[in-house]
Amino acid sequence: MIVDLALNNTKAYIKNRIVDCSLAINEGKILKISKEVNMPKSEKKIDLKNQLVLPGLIDAHVHLRDEGKAYKEDFYTGTAAAAAGGITTVLDMPNNEPVTMSAETLQTRMKTADRRILVNVGFYSEFPKNTKEIEKILEKGAVAFKLFMAEQVGGLDIDNDNALLEAFKVVSQLKVLVAVHAEDRKSLRKTEDSFKHANCNEIEAFLKAHSESVEVKAVKHLLEIVKQTNARVHFCHVSTENGLKAVLDGKKPGMQITCEATPHHLFLSVDDLRKVGTLALTMPPVRGKNHASALMNGIRRGWIDILASDHAPHAPEEKKARTVWDVKVGIPGLETTLPLLLTQVKRGRLSLGDVVKLMAEKPAEIFNLTDRGCLKRGNKADLTIVDLKKQCKIDASKFHSKAKYSPFDRWSVEGEPIKTFVNGQLVMDEGEIVAKAGIGEIIRRQ
Ligand code: DOR
Ligand code: ZN
Ligand code: ZN
Repeated sequence: MIVDLALNNTKAYIKNRIVDCSLAINEGKILKISKEVNMPKSEKKIDLKNQLVLPGLIDAHVHLRDEGKAYKEDFYTGTAAAAAGGITTVLDMPNNEPVTMSAETLQTRMKTADRRILVNVGFYSEFPKNTKEIEKILEKGAVAFKLFMAEQVGGLDIDNDNALLEAFKVVSQLKVLVAVHAEDRKSLRKTEDSFKHANCNEIEAFLKAHSESVEVKAVKHLLEIVKQTNARVHFCHVSTENGLKAVLDGKKPGMQITCEATPHHLFLSVDDLRKVGTLALTMPPVRGKNHASALMNGIRRGWIDILASDHAPHAPEEKKARTVWDVKVGIPGLETTLPLLLTQVKRGRLSLGDVVKLMAEKPAEIFNLTDRGCLKRGNKADLTIVDLKKQCKIDASKFHSKAKYSPFDRWSVEGEPIKTFVNGQLVMDEGEIVAKAGIGEIIRRQ
């Protein structure tokens, strides 16, 4: 048998160990992991010169935009940014134009993405108004649902507990996960409105409106609904010490609760936000340093299950506005996440095993991506090759994303993805996109 590709001289991360080996790849899958002498014949060989091969990273929180928001990002540029950042699978958020919240909108989105994507893409759906639609959306292949508690986005009335309860009963029965943006709309609006009224339109007012208690309140509120339905819930971008505590309270035996943190909440603080300005504005916002260290502690203790970028690109003019309330919140993160994490590895604050667990193994497990997340025979050949010694400065002007700004711009990092393989194909090589669009697969819930 002649296989498609052999990757020789690799140091591969397999089951918590780094193994000197070769990988044989055929039809997009890992066929064999062994010594070079045991490799089958191959059409092509690549000598990886002892570089480190990680399982392809999975970013479970990405806003790829496109359709009506293509001016901010489209499927090609967003997945090019992913490949450049060493990410081989992304899960796409539903706050699009139109909002992904029906079988039809999901299907159109999948069709638009098809042949334009460079990495694998799975899709979230917002909740439809009619809970009967939930099953239809799943049949089309949505990987999970998203509940945005900060304002009304989907069809489900977020201020109506009975409606929430009914929807959660349905997803619980169908065993599908709900990812939740936990900020309590009512408390948030109340403060925001009073600030607007008083003409307080600065970052400080935004921080007060999006307070820690707004996050805690939403988490607690949602956990009450979960207790009655036993739905699987994943809390997105936990940003505060007490928010994390509230999530932990929900992680009781029998409850299926997971959570995520982002690099910006881990590595930035309000000081950075004040320095950089509204360009660094996100929702939830970055916090005081004590919160960032509480999150880091949460990672060490295994309380935080995954890391995700919350890549949320906007046009440059949208990041500046007359008032803070008009600024579009969100930052691109696909091209900074891995270098920032590898820098932590270099500094001894995270281990390589943490990075693989938080960005490959666990996301694969939580989102049921059964043939991805670790290097083993039969799995898809999604690989992230990294150079742990490469030092550079983040340069947002060179991003593949349309959003060429970052609060991490000019930060020194050590450790970079140097090659990305998606389904056995080399997509990124030394920062360049070297594949044609369409190599990424659309991931449908099995
Ligand atoms: O910062 C954010 N950006 N938070 C959100 O919840 C939405 C997101 C976006 O879509 O821009
Ligand atoms: Zn969010
Ligand atoms: Zn988001």
